[in-house]
Amino acid sequence: MLDLNQIRADFPILSETVYGKPLVYFDNAATTQKPRCVVQKIEEGYYKRNANIHRGVHFLSQEATEAHEASREEVRAFINAKCANEIVFTRGTTEAINLVASSFGELLQAGDEIILTQMEHHSNIVPWQLLRARRGVVLKVIPFNKKGELKLDELENLISSKTKLIACTHVANSLGTINPIKEIIRQAHAHSIPVLVDGAQSVPHIKVDVLDLDADFFVFSGHKIYAPTGIGVLYGKEEWLEKIPPYQGGGEMIDKVTFDQTTFAALPFKFEAGTPDFIGSTALAEALRYVNAIGIETIAAYEHDLLVYATEQLSRFDNIRFIGEANHKSGLISFLIGTIHPYDLGTVLDKLGIAVRTGHHCAQPVMQAFGVEGTVRASFAFYNTKEEIDIFIAAVERAKKMFKQ
Ligand code: ALA
Repeated sequence: MLDLNQIRADFPILSETVYGKPLVYFDNAATTQKPRCVVQKIEEGYYKRNANIHRGVHFLSQEATEAHEASREEVRAFINAKCANEIVFTRGTTEAINLVASSFGELLQAGDEIILTQMEHHSNIVPWQLLRARRGVVLKVIPFNKKGELKLDELENLISSKTKLIACTHVANSLGTINPIKEIIRQAHAHSIPVLVDGAQSVPHIKVDVLDLDADFFVFSGHKIYAPTGIGVLYGKEEWLEKIPPYQGGGEMIDKVTFDQTTFAALPFKFEAGTPDFIGSTALAEALRYVNAIGIETIAAYEHDLLVYATEQLSRFDNIRFIGEANHKSGLISFLIGTIHPYDLGTVLDKLGIAVRTGHHCAQPVMQAFGVEGTVRASFAFYNTKEEIDIFIAAVERAKKMFKQ
């Protein structure tokens, strides 16, 4: 279904060698590689339309403004938001969550409760802890079971009249679990509780429709979906974005400033203080067009095949331990082999040309729950192949022998 030769040719880095070995890039959950068209878009932006946006009457500024706002519209369409006002550009997922924690947090009082899950990335834990320190909110946590699936039957007990928000990942970066987010939102809304969804690991891999999900806030990063680093998205329902105060102050987000008082710009500019990343936004839109041209459903099906194949192959090792065995998983596998330290295994794989992530994956509570220090994580993208998985399996085998496991 996918023209892998063509696709791989679009990503020059995939033809690189490391230590004389062909690169096998299995660290896509950390960041994805960039197709030529995205890099060209960045170059074109700087060479042809580089001028500050929303400020100039001159030609270049208007061109750059139009390109930036057209990109916002493409993001809107990609996640099916109701209107472009609901799309706020941020530096990434982390900044988007911090924005909500800070601005939504202004509406909260001591004793108000926020529910998180045990499988969150640190970026969906620490901002809420900072809010707890500032405002005295209470954090509660939905636990997961041995397979790494949320124990959703516990959610009703965690919800109280003081619950003000549920912040939950769509796909867990350390486990691969795809959470039943629509069901979680439905349950939350039955109690009039809004939900923030961390979509960093879902948007690049599965179809996301924020209207269908009925998410109140949905955040993701450009760099995990083949766009550059430094650009990300906060989707917020218009009613929420109107209700919460600005995050940072500065140019761009104002309507009128006097020393006595400032009024703020309309959405989405109210949340975009300072010069926006107008080059990053156009590159993000280009990446989304690239993904659309292949089709997110095609990508999801292909990556699922890679997941199944790699899981089958790894299962042949007698001393493998999978961390995260949910029924619904995205294309990533966290694992350990015998007593080999993940860092050691990762280092051997690296020397054989294979890039995986090792460690706690910014999800220390997940590691604590499984009683491990860290894992080796292989995470796939649509440009990966079964042949690469075979190379990876042979390399794991070699490491296993090397460490006498
Ligand atoms: N959040 C990224 C990861 O999971 C960095 O690797």
